[in-house]
Amino acid sequence: MAFQREDVFHTSSSGGTAGANALVPACNSKQAAGVFLLPGQDTLIFRSFPPANYIEAGHHPVLPDSLERSPIMSKIPYKTFLSESELPKQFYNVRADMKVKPAPMLNPATLKPAVVEDLTPVFCTELAKQELDDTTRYIDIPDEIRDFYKMYRPSPLVRAYFLEKALDTPAKIYYKFEGNNTSGSHKLNSAIAQAYYAKEQGIRHLTTETGAGQWGTALSMACGYFGLDLTVYMVKCSAMQKPYRKAVIETYGARVIPSPSDTTNVGRKMLEEFPGSTGSLGTAISEAVEVATSTENCRYALGSVLNQVLLHQSIIGLEAKQAMEKLDEYPDIVIGCAGGGSNLGGIMAAFMQDRLAGRKHPHFIAVEPASCPSLTRGRFAYDFCDTGKVTPLAKMYTLGSGFMPSPNHAGGLRYHGMSPIISQLYHDGLIDEARAVEQTSVFDAAELFAKVEGTLPAPESSHAIRVAIDEALKCKETGEAKTILFNLTGTGYFDMAAYAAYNDGTMTDQIPTDADLEKGFAFIPKLPGIQE
Ligand SMILES: Cc1ncc(COP(=O)(O)O)c(C=O)c1O
Repeated sequence: MAFQREDVFHTSSSGGTAGANALVPACNSKQAAGVFLLPGQDTLIFRSFPPANYIEAGHHPVLPDSLERSPIMSKIPYKTFLSESELPKQFYNVRADMKVKPAPMLNPATLKPAVVEDLTPVFCTELAKQELDDTTRYIDIPDEIRDFYKMYRPSPLVRAYFLEKALDTPAKIYYKFEGNNTSGSHKLNSAIAQAYYAKEQGIRHLTTETGAGQWGTALSMACGYFGLDLTVYMVKCSAMQKPYRKAVIETYGARVIPSPSDTTNVGRKMLEEFPGSTGSLGTAISEAVEVATSTENCRYALGSVLNQVLLHQSIIGLEAKQAMEKLDEYPDIVIGCAGGGSNLGGIMAAFMQDRLAGRKHPHFIAVEPASCPSLTRGRFAYDFCDTGKVTPLAKMYTLGSGFMPSPNHAGGLRYHGMSPIISQLYHDGLIDEARAVEQTSVFDAAELFAKVEGTLPAPESSHAIRVAIDEALKCKETGEAKTILFNLTGTGYFDMAAYAAYNDGTMTDQIPTDADLEKGFAFIPKLPGIQE
C-alpha cells in the first residue's frame, strides 16, 4: 500500500527491526493531516514524499540502519575530502574547449565586440582580460587566493546515503557542499579572486549588488581580508527579509544600501516611476555600476553571469571530479541550480570538458524557478545585463532586462538573464535540459533534505535538490543505479522568512503568464543588423 501525503502515523514499539523506532499508520483516513510521529521526538511532516524506508516494510517502517553496518561504506565514505595540497592550482576555462564560443559582449555605444579597454572602466584589468579570454584553457590561481581558499576548501564531496535511504532509491547521490564558510555559499570562490585582482591593481573601492545576500557577504569577507572599501546595493525585498545579512556584511566593514535607492540616478529614476518597487538584481547592478564608473579608484564586482565568475567557480567541479576519481566514480547526471549560472558553470566545467572532448557523456540539468524561467521560457538574444542599461550587451537567454520577477524566496535566482557560456551550451544541446520548478515543491525537497542529511539548505540550492530527488525517484521506478551529482551551493540560515512561510502554509507559487513575459521581452533591444 502506498501512503499518500495526508496519511497519519503513530509510533509502535513492536513494529520494525529490533531496537529501531517504528512508525505505523495512526489511521487510514486520507483526510487526516500529513504528520509522522516518532516517540519522544518532534513531529515529522513529509508533505510530498515521505521517505520510503519510513513507510514500507509491511506498514512498520523503520529508522535507517547504521551506515557503519553497510558494506558499501567501507569503500565509499560519507564525506570525501581532498588534502590542501590537492587544491587545484589552476582555474579551468571551458570556453577554450567550446567549438561554438559564446557570442562576444557588445559595446552598447558602437555595437562592436567589446575589447579590454571597453571593460576596464568597470572591471579591474586582469578581470577584464579574463572576461574576454576564450582561448587560454588553464589560468594559474595566485598563491594569495589559494591561501584564502585553504580556510574553507577543498570542500567536501558527500555521498548522500541518508537521502538515498529515505528515498529507497538504487541511485547513488553525491553532492558537493559549498556552504561551509561564513558567506554560506559558493560565492566566496569568486569574491576572493575579484578582490585579489583589484587589490593587485591598487584599486581601493569596490561596489556590487546582492540579491539573496550571499554574494554581498562573500565580497565583504574578501574586501575585509584585503582591506578594500565596499558598497553593496542590496535588492530591497531581500534587505527587508534578511536584516541579519546586512549586519554580517557591515561586520566585515562594508556599507549596505537597499536598492532602488536615492544615491544614484538610476535608483532615483526607478523610485520616481515605481515608488513601491521592491527592487531587482538588474536595478541593483545598474546602481553599483553607476557608482563604480563615477568614483575615482573604484571598480565593480559581479557575483555571477560573467565569464570570469564561471572561471573562478570551475574550482568546484575540478575538486568534485578529483574526489570522484578517488572513489572510482563518475556522474551520469550533473545538476545545478541556475540564477546567473555561476555554480552550474562551476560544478559542470570539468565534466563538460570530457563531454566536449567526446570522452564521456554526462547528462547536465540546469534548474531554475518557475517564477523566473530564463532558460525554459526566455529568448536567446543580446540584452543588457542590468535594468538601467548601463552594462555591455550579452547574448544570453533572457526575460528582458525590465522583467520584474515575483518576490519569491530564492533571491539568488531572480535574475532576468543567464550566463552567456551556459546559454550557448544550452542552445547547442550540450547542457541537455533546463527544468523550471515551483517553490513549494522546492521547499518540500529542502525540508526532506534537512531532516535526513542534516544541513538546512539555501532555497536556491534546494532547486538542485528537488531535481536530484526527482531523478533518484525515477531510478527507483526503473531500477537503474545512476550516479547523480548536484551542487549544494549554500545554507539557508538567513532564509527563515521563507522557511516560516513554507511551514505555516502561506507560501505560494507564482508563475508568470505569457502576457507577463511579453512585457519583459519588450525590453530586449532591437539592434540593426544584429537582431531585429
Ligand atoms: C546559495 C546560492 N546558490 C545559488 C545561487 C545562484 O547563483 P548562480 O547561478 O550564479 O550560481 C545563489 C545566488 O545568490 C546563491 O546564493
